[in-house]
Amino acid sequence: MTIEERVNQLTARYSAEADVYERVWAPMLREAGNRLLSRIPLNVDSKVLDVGAGVGALLPDISALVPGGVTVGVDRSKGMLSHASSDYPVAVMDASRLGLRAATFDAVTMTFILFHLPDPSDGLKEAHRVLGPRGSIGIANWAAGDEEWPAFEIWTELLDEHGADPPSPVLSQHELVNTGELLEELLSAAGFERIETWVETIERTWDIDSFIQFVTGMAIPKRRYDSIDPRARPTLIETLRGRLEDLGPTDLTHRAQVLFATAAAGGSRV
Ligand SMILES: C[S@@+](CC[C@H](N)C(=O)[O-])C[C@H]1O[C@@H](n2cnc3c(N)ncnc32)[C@H](O)[C@@H]1O
Repeated sequence: MTIEERVNQLTARYSAEADVYERVWAPMLREAGNRLLSRIPLNVDSKVLDVGAGVGALLPDISALVPGGVTVGVDRSKGMLSHASSDYPVAVMDASRLGLRAATFDAVTMTFILFHLPDPSDGLKEAHRVLGPRGSIGIANWAAGDEEWPAFEIWTELLDEHGADPPSPVLSQHELVNTGELLEELLSAAGFERIETWVETIERTWDIDSFIQFVTGMAIPKRRYDSIDPRARPTLIETLRGRLEDLGPTDLTHRAQVLFATAAAGGSRV
């Protein structure tokens, strides 16, 4: 498969699963997005571009911080963007080649998208190009390191016991952007200055129904589930539900490390 085909495959999957994404996955990422927003210098009239805006979960939060400004979302998945509120301008666009004029925005946010780009530095150079010289960027990605999610471990065990296919590769290159050092190098090469990176723990306690919607409805867990004989699926879900009901509430908590970065566009144009 060519790179272009892999990007198309990824964004087509996001489009197909946007409904479940919005209901069960977006809230945890929105929490991370809000922590990022609290560290980006914004004025009431700032113009902000959310690249990889997905279902637009962060757009109202951005807009609340820049009530006299402009909040725009772009994403390559039309299906994801179709969930965004019509209060904000959105456009289908590839993060590696934004169809936007240079030096148009005061801030760019990129939450949980950089690892999906064939070459993350292309996305950062584009962000730099559309930012004015006093502009800022804010990034959030999954950090390298341990993640705690006992319920998900149970799901993986059950899938293995039922002979589900191994996870199929998708265009997710976390290893290119999951440490502060990697982000600093990439941001600096794209022309950014005053780079800061840090890691915070984000957690969400799932209810059983949302967890089941997630593992059967989106991303890699869904594709593994879909590989199981349809006749065996009801028993699998019943077993999962029983095992989850036996857990203590903290075992339904998902705790993950999020890597954040902020930087200034600065005067130098690359
Ligand atoms: C994990 S979601 C994050 C969405 C949103 N930022 C959030 O925090 O909920 C990743 C998003 O990146 C988008 N995406 C993936 N590759 C892209 C590309 N090359 N250009 C633009 N968007 C892309 C996907 O369509 C998806 O909406």
